[in-house]
Amino acid sequence: MKIDSSTVAVVTGGASGLGRASAEALAAAGAKVAIFDQNADAGEAVAAEVGGIFCKVDITSEEDVVAGFARSREAHGQERILVHCAQVSRGGKTVSFDKASGGYRRYSTEDYLFSANGILIASYRMASLAALGMASLDPLEDGERGCITLTASVAAQEGQVGQIAYGSLKAGVNGLVLPMARDLMDLGIRVNSIMPGVFATPPMLALGERNPAVFEGLAKSVPFPKRLGKPEEFGSLVLELARNSYFNGQNLRLDGAIRMGPR
Ligand SMILES: NC(=O)c1ccc[n+]([C@@H]2O[C@H](COP(=O)([O-])OP(=O)(O)OC[C@H]3O[C@@H](n4cnc5c(N)ncnc54)[C@H](O)[C@@H]3O)[C@@H](O)[C@H]2O)c1
Repeated sequence: MKIDSSTVAVVTGGASGLGRASAEALAAAGAKVAIFDQNADAGEAVAAEVGGIFCKVDITSEEDVVAGFARSREAHGQERILVHCAQVSRGGKTVSFDKASGGYRRYSTEDYLFSANGILIASYRMASLAALGMASLDPLEDGERGCITLTASVAAQEGQVGQIAYGSLKAGVNGLVLPMARDLMDLGIRVNSIMPGVFATPPMLALGERNPAVFEGLAKSVPFPKRLGKPEEFGSLVLELARNSYFNGQNLRLDGAIRMGPR
């Protein structure tokens, strides 16, 4: 897909980290960008920086997301690109020892449902509502109407201890990709996911401040380059996935060849 000032993009989680880098990359290529995020202060600031708009959206609320799309489509027109980066989840082991009670506790079904809403259900919601809107767009070259990029994680393939929900639900995000690309093939809408390794975004940088040794070790565990990923490297792949119409139905690792161990 050729990206220019007529291209409209929606980026969830665009107020920070990988979403922000995606919004910056798309805007630098000329696209009009709407940022969907819960964090209004940061979201407004990024929207102003990229010359786009901010929509306060909680991705776990159908009502919020529908209203966000309505607002962004009114301002910019129907999006051809969706980049979905936001997620919310709770960590925890399937069964762990609880020092306070002196017994074992499990990661509850309620916790799992919370994470499923914040990762898998939200990914389906964002992608399917974007596709519904894209269906009414005029086709471009080769009949292409749109491009959806979801965000999984290397944890989808190597979930670590404490990542029962995150790992399995990010695998679910990867699982959406091929059947959705097939469902949408007659509409010319492509669907891919990116599995980031370890990236230098605010949550990871905060971990580094709390525990510099763990952070150092993490950086060294990347075969090459021996450092955390730069958010702009993620943004660059988002842009390439939109531009290169032959990417479809694919789960792509972006990880410096890291393979996560159990812990
Ligand atoms: N950073 C990494 O190393 C890494 C590795 C693997 C996967 N990922 C994935 O990449 C994505 C982005 O992560 P990041 O590191 O950039 O995080 P981040 O915290 O920097 O950004 C996430 C953004 O999502 C927003 N958000 C959170 N809950 C939301 C909700 N319910 N509704 C709307 N917005 C919400 C936050 O306000 C924030 O702006 C996530 O899906 C994460 O699982 C990140």
